[in-house]
Amino acid sequence: MVQIFTAIFAVFFFEAACHPFNVQPNYKDVLRLSLLFYEAQRSGRLPVDNRIPWRGDSALDDKGTNGEDLTGGYYDAGDFVKFSFPMAFTTTTLAWGVLDYENAYKSADQYHHVLTALKWATDYFLKSHVSPYELYGQVGDFSIDHKYWGRPEELNMTRPAYKIDTKHPGADLAGEVSAALSSTALVFKNIQKDYYNLAIKHAQELYTFAVNYPGFYHEAIPGAKTFYQSTGFGDELTWAAIWLYKATLDKKYLQDAELFYMNFKLKGRPNEFYHTNKAAGIQVLLAEVTGKPEYINAVETFCNYSIYQQKRTPNGLVYIDKVGTLSHAANVAFLCLQAAALNISTSTYINFAREQLAYILTTTGRSFVVGYGENYPKKPHHSASSCPAKPSPCGWEAYKSKDPNPQILYGALVSGPDQNDYYEDVRDEFLYNEVTLDYNAGFQSAVAGLIHYENE
Ligand SMILES: *[C@@H]1O[C@H](CO)[C@@H](O)[C@H](O)[C@H]1NC(C)=O
Ligand SMILES: *[C@@H]1O[C@H](CO)[C@@H](O)[C@H](O)[C@H]1NC(C)=O
Ligand SMILES: *[C@@H]1O[C@H](CO)[C@@H](O)[C@H](O)[C@H]1NC(C)=O
Repeated sequence: MVQIFTAIFAVFFFEAACHPFNVQPNYKDVLRLSLLFYEAQRSGRLPVDNRIPWRGDSALDDKGTNGEDLTGGYYDAGDFVKFSFPMAFTTTTLAWGVLDYENAYKSADQYHHVLTALKWATDYFLKSHVSPYELYGQVGDFSIDHKYWGRPEELNMTRPAYKIDTKHPGADLAGEVSAALSSTALVFKNIQKDYYNLAIKHAQELYTFAVNYPGFYHEAIPGAKTFYQSTGFGDELTWAAIWLYKATLDKKYLQDAELFYMNFKLKGRPNEFYHTNKAAGIQVLLAEVTGKPEYINAVETFCNYSIYQQKRTPNGLVYIDKVGTLSHAANVAFLCLQAAALNISTSTYINFAREQLAYILTTTGRSFVVGYGENYPKKPHHSASSCPAKPSPCGWEAYKSKDPNPQILYGALVSGPDQNDYYEDVRDEFLYNEVTLDYNAGFQSAVAGLIHYENE
């Protein structure tokens, strides 16, 4: 009896001392959950193997101005607009992680799921690219959409579609969608050759469109301006060129990339890696494919800055912006894992990534990923998961409810704390509890990277 009590006490004290602060995150579980988040964001007709019980077919009338089928793709966030610019950046960033950490996805038994997740986006981009110089970049109007709170299966507002073409170009959007198609094509190269060929054909056309018709897509699609304005299109042109080079090994694209890198002055140290600024990612890719000291030095400068000089919260989170705080940190962690693979400060950079991911998953005493770990967010700003089980009605009362979201939005990374580590689990504060496609992307790829390094 005494022994049993001792044992129970020992377990109790062990738990109290070690839990949750020093618990090694279960990265494979996080990878699995993050892919469930993407599955919950699906628009269009869902396949029979849909794993999200509270989701069904939705927005089946999405079409272009000439009646083109634009169903499918992903809802951007807690709302129901389909924004192709961040959706494409998400796709490219996820595909990059799959290319470099294929073994991680396989060892976590998630390879099939991530291929499906990529294709859910690229199938939509292929549909949206209705002719060589015409690409739909948004479905749904933000101000109309935001009058609605409820289930995607029940939305009935008009959902206009917006495109870029030769008269209203957008090299940033065309470039990013090209990169999403090239990187995903490369993932499928040895799996489905037909899909590779099809995606590369569209990626090349979109690249030509972007190069020949410079301009900002938010001028053609003004609704995107408030949320997903890009700050320049030089980075997307360069990014698209490198991804085409990686996918085809045609040297012409690498020459273009190096030329754009110079002409668009991308060599300075970026502050971040984000959908608005891909320069840091470009530096990593150029370092990888050329091995030139100039690019390697740029990568090292970026990671050193991020690790030693970037602003941090008191508890050690890299703090770049109040919007998407955790995704910013995760994106940098992902890039520095990439740098580690180039043999630049390998152990320092891997440890840095571990530390940032630990903040997100365990060390502050809470997890910032819905449905994972201790004390995770219960009220993400997410309309569909805030609804009770069908057939109960759902509307703004679900938004105002003080209760946890009735459906668990497994795997969603929330925006995160402020610069003082302060965070509140409240549905109506997007600075804490917004969830988006792109927040999860660099994060998921960083998690895959850490699984890769654990396996070694
Ligand atoms: C849309 O749905 C709402 C609530 O379900 C309903 O009141 C409204 O009449 C519907 N509008 C249209 C255009 O069907
Ligand atoms: C990066 O930091 C490491 C460790 O402090 C240092 O050895 C290296 O020279 C730095 N590199 C650059 C480019 O600043
Ligand atoms: C990094 O170092 C490893 C082991 O020394 C080597 O096998 C690999 O080729 C190197 N990679 C690069 C990009 O230099």
